[in-house]
Formats: sequence, C-alpha cells, structure tokens
Amino acid sequence: MTDFDTIDYFTDPSLVPDPHPYFDHLRSKCPVTREPNYGVLAVTGYDEAAVVLKDSDTYSSCIAVAGPFPPLPFTPEGDDITDQITEHRSQMPMFEHMVTMDPPDHTYARSLLNRLLTPSRLKENEDFMWRLADEVLDDFIDAGRCEFLTAYAKPFSLLVIADMLGVPEEDHEEFRTVLGAPRPGANVGSLDHSDLVGANPLEWLDEKFIKYLEDRRKDPRDDVLTALATAKYPDGSTPPVIEVVRSATFLFAAGQETTTKLLSASMRVLGDHPEIQERLRRDRTRIPVFVEEALRMDAPVKSQFRLAKKNTKIGDIDVPAGTTLMICPGAVNRDPNRFDNPHDFDLDRKNVREHIAFGRGVHSCPGGPLARVEGRVSIERILDRMGDIAIDEELHGPPGNRTYNYEPTFILRGLTDVNITFTPIR
Ligand code: HEM
Repeated sequence: MTDFDTIDYFTDPSLVPDPHPYFDHLRSKCPVTREPNYGVLAVTGYDEAAVVLKDSDTYSSCIAVAGPFPPLPFTPEGDDITDQITEHRSQMPMFEHMVTMDPPDHTYARSLLNRLLTPSRLKENEDFMWRLADEVLDDFIDAGRCEFLTAYAKPFSLLVIADMLGVPEEDHEEFRTVLGAPRPGANVGSLDHSDLVGANPLEWLDEKFIKYLEDRRKDPRDDVLTALATAKYPDGSTPPVIEVVRSATFLFAAGQETTTKLLSASMRVLGDHPEIQERLRRDRTRIPVFVEEALRMDAPVKSQFRLAKKNTKIGDIDVPAGTTLMICPGAVNRDPNRFDNPHDFDLDRKNVREHIAFGRGVHSCPGGPLARVEGRVSIERILDRMGDIAIDEELHGPPGNRTYNYEPTFILRGLTDVNITFTPIR
C-alpha cells in the first residue's frame, strides 16, 4: 500500500493518474502541511491558498513554475530574503517571463497585455473560434473516431492564440507545423517541413514576433500586431521590442497546453458520462457550467509555487523566509469545506465559479476569459457535429475499467491521449 506520508510527490509516477487521494491525505493532516522530501509546504485548503496567492508582498513568484527544481541558487539567510531574491533572480528558471516576476516589474510586463486581452478583441477572437472549430472538425469528422488531442484540442488552442495575437491567417499553417499541432495524417518529419520542425519552437516564435513587431513599428497598420507594437508602459515609455515579444510569445507557452488539457478533460467527461452528454445536448445553457466544473475537477495547473520572502504565518503555521510553498489548485478545488461532494462532477453546482483553476491575485490568469470561450465554443460545435460520443473501448477499456494516461509532471494535469468514437453529423 502507498505510504502517503513518505511518498515523493515530485518524482513518483504512481501519483500521476489520480493525485486526489494524496491531496486529500495532505489536507486531512492540515491544509498547510510540510511534505517530507524537500520541505515544501503544501497548501491544499481553499482559504489558505487564497491568503498566499493574494499576498505578493510576502510571497515571491520567482519559483512559480519550477518549485523545488532546481534548488534555490542561494541559501536563504535571515528574516527577509527579498534582497537575495533580487540578486539571484536571473539564475532562476523563466526569470524573463511575467509569471515569475514580482511587482513592480510584474505590473509593467503585464500591462503590455492590456491592449490584447480586451473585451472587443475577445469578441472578434470568438468569431474566429466558431469558424476555426468547424475547420478543424472538418479535417477528421468523417472518420467517426479520433485521438482528440491531436485531432482537435492542440490545433484549436494553438490557432486561437495565434489569432488573438493577430498572426496573419496565411501564416497559421506554418505555426501549426512548427509548434507541433499537425493535421491528422500529416507527416511531421517530412522533408518539406524538416527545417521548421528541427528548430527550437520558442526561439522560432521569438524571431517570428520580433519580425512582426519591428515591421509594425516601421509601418503601422490597423491590426492587433500594430496595437501590440505600439503599446507603452504605464509611465508612457516605449518598451524594447524584446519585452513585448516575450509578453506575446509567453501566451503560447501559458495558454496552449492548459487549454488543450481543459478540452481533453471535458471530452473524457462527455465520453465517460453519457447522462451528462445527453443533458448538455438537451440543454445547451448548461455548457458554461460544464466548462467550469471541468476546470474545478481537473485543474490543468495542479500545483503552482511561491517562495516566502519574509518570516510569516498562515493561520498558526510558521512559515520561515525561504520556504517553498506549493499551492495545489487541484486539491483546493476539491476542498470539502468549500465544495459539497467535491469529487462528484455536478452540473448544478451553485458555487462552481469559485474554483481557483485560474489562480488568484496579481498573477491570476489573464487568459481565463479566452479559455472559457474556447471551452464553450468547442463543446457547442462538438455536440453539433458529433453524435453519440463514446470513449474508444479498444484503447481505454470498458466502462468501469478504463485506463487513461496522464502526462508525468507534478505541475500540470493533462491526458496524453483520449480516443473517442462518434457518429459524424454533417
Ligand atoms: C484552461 C486554461 C488555462 C488555465 C487552467 C490557466 C491557468 C493559469 C494559472 C493557474 C495561472 C497563474 C500562475 C501563478 O499564479 O503562478 C496562469 C497565469 C497565466 N496564464 Fe493562464 N491558464 C489557462 C489559459 C491561458 C490562456 C488561454 C492564456 C493566454 C491567452 C493564458 C495566459 C497566462 C499568462 C500570460 C499567465 C501569467 C500571468 C501573470 O503572471 O501575471 N492562460 N494561468
């Protein structure tokens, strides 16, 4: 039997398929409890997580994406390690991206997104999504079966972000090829794309956006890339192109994988719960609640990290400066003190939007509204175009005895594949 008191959450693959018994165990000991292997304080309670995430004065995001790996590049000393963090920041993973910054640098970096993620831009982007959903479905719908991540979730979420950023449609196919969301059946390693596929995708993205933005600064047009290229910092100064590029390209890193995970988790629910699928078909007004409940049940970011800058306390638990905290949205979203019957998927859950799948505080996800629309549009069109969606029993086993594989990471929660069958509706 697994010993949850000694198991190494950060390396043990047995916790990947279903981390919830472990999360429940941690919470039952204490909603803020120290795991034994790295001394990380795991926060699994709803109220406690909100306290940490909303307090960027006390908790730094410098380790937000990496947690205890690699270890800190310094040994914390004294009651306040703010200066040590500043001194060593550039040695920490992804230090150049907003997700690991603290105010005021974070405020500056994030302000560059304000021109992009506006309600009117979101509306235009939604119009694109309806078209895109059909185009992606057209590619494979006649087959009556698919591996859903490759066929739909990955290309859809990639191209939505490309469109949000104003990437011209004639370049979309290139994005799809380079960033790993090929058309089903396309030969990824084919000679005609080999130069692109061999490139480092993030470097490729940076270079692509530097070209776009330099071009728009020289030759402004009435488009989203021009808005981005001419964005100013809050003090009115013009940021260097590379800073704007980083804000833009980080959206691919932050938004593509996570949304793919939301869409594939949703598909698993539709396939595993014919009664939920049936109810959504009858009553489409439940789709937004369905999307929220999918986010609550399977938060794509299952853990995020903070470093205590100063000696502090959460409730009566001491948190010395230099402590790594792991806030677990996956666990928090199933805290029974906040959500009744937390392990049940409930289409009538009244407080479902209280989940923290998009985080809280100054770093809370700016892509949340976009991801929600992606979920809603996708489910609508999928229900319109696929009848009798079922999990492929040949690949996942029969109801009650299914096997699903999840990506082996301690940060994200996402299926590696979900194979479905359905009746095409033309
Ligand atoms: C279901 C989909 C998504 C989930 C579950 C999700 C989740 C999260 C979470 C939990 C954070 C907070 C990280 C932290 O506090 O350390 C975050 C930050 C972020 N997300 Fe998302 N996200 C999703 C989709 C998106 C999309 C579609 C975009 C872009 C269009 C996006 C862009 C970002 C960015 C830029 C940040 C960093 C914000 C900051 O540091 O201020 N996300 N996301």
